[in-house]
Amino acid sequence: MKINAERFLMDLHHLRTFGDSGVGKGVIRPAYSEPDIAARKWLASRFHDAGLRVQIDEMGNLFGVADGPSLLLGSHSDSQPTGGWLDGALGVIAALEVARSSREAGGPAISVVSFQDEEGRFGVTTGSAVWSGHLPLAEADKLVDHTGVSVATARHAMADLSTGPVDSAQFHGFIELHIEQGPTLDQSGEQIGVVTDIVGIRDMKVTFEGQQNHAGTTPMHLRKDAFQAMSAFNTLINERFRNVVTPSTVWTIGHVSLHPNASSIVPGKVVFSMQWRDGDADRLARMEKIIRDTAAEVADAREMMLNFGPMLGLEPVKMDVQLRGALEAAAQEIAPEKWRTLPSGALHDATNVSKIMPVAMLFVPSIGGISHAFEEDTDEADLIAGVEVLARAVSLLG
Ligand code: GLV
Ligand code: MN
Ligand code: MN
Repeated sequence: MKINAERFLMDLHHLRTFGDSGVGKGVIRPAYSEPDIAARKWLASRFHDAGLRVQIDEMGNLFGVADGPSLLLGSHSDSQPTGGWLDGALGVIAALEVARSSREAGGPAISVVSFQDEEGRFGVTTGSAVWSGHLPLAEADKLVDHTGVSVATARHAMADLSTGPVDSAQFHGFIELHIEQGPTLDQSGEQIGVVTDIVGIRDMKVTFEGQQNHAGTTPMHLRKDAFQAMSAFNTLINERFRNVVTPSTVWTIGHVSLHPNASSIVPGKVVFSMQWRDGDADRLARMEKIIRDTAAEVADAREMMLNFGPMLGLEPVKMDVQLRGALEAAAQEIAPEKWRTLPSGALHDATNVSKIMPVAMLFVPSIGGISHAFEEDTDEADLIAGVEVLARAVSLLG
């Protein structure tokens, strides 16, 4: 099988015209936004042109299905609120290219997927979580984004495109090509990373509620200031995590909504996201206890109300030995001595899909290790090497 690099790059660049940020190659294409749906319609037409049967489930997960049993390749085409052009998009267009090339060469049957809301506008890899049975649709429907819009409302915008459920039994494995989104391959000068495992994640909203008041007249000792509570909480967990974490453990307060967010008002309420990731489920649980205990301590000391939102999460998973072996053999052929195995600190749809079939992943370098940012990029030679390794692995699995 020989991939058509020019056709692959043309489609990859075309996809970034949907939600083009106007800043570098960056995109603004969150799940169910107008550009996301327009991109899915365009992808559907490309899948159709490639001889694949277009199917879209109730969540808006888009499939191009080959006849008979097939290997599933793909990723996601939604982006972060301000995202890069390759995160997810690379895996979808690479899958399309390998499906087309395999068909042209009389190779194995390949189906393609673009999962919905991998980037977590509503939760954590929502589309693949529902498709794999990890999250019931009725539960997903209740999830809300930071502005209060629910999945039930948002997915309505794609309802007329839905063709019904897509049977996972027709796929015998799933492989996802992705950018690394970290510095390892870029710094080592290698071209390919074969993933060993994907870390686990926990994510929940925390609310401190005190008393909104005048910023000029309220003495410091009488304040119930929500920002001060969050700040104290942050300092304390950073100290308390020290005895529990490893150098690869990460935690992030990435979204903060402070009420009413005005210079002359002591803020009465703060809602913030607390997210933590690690390869060890026990460590994730120990961190959860520290978070809950510390927040309760801060709220008690300041006589404030405390509320925790639903805890979303995914367990750490190992990649399938056989699929991973094919990727390693293909990497050694296409990029001899310029590849390595490595774990993934980013989340991927592959975690959910691993519940229902064998999965594996491969990475190409991210320039400067930058991702989830408009600057995200990868050398074209590395993008092409990634697709070639994927195609070769598919042939080896035959
Ligand atoms: C997905 O992009 C993640 O947050 O790792
Ligand atoms: Mn991604
Ligand atoms: Mn991402």
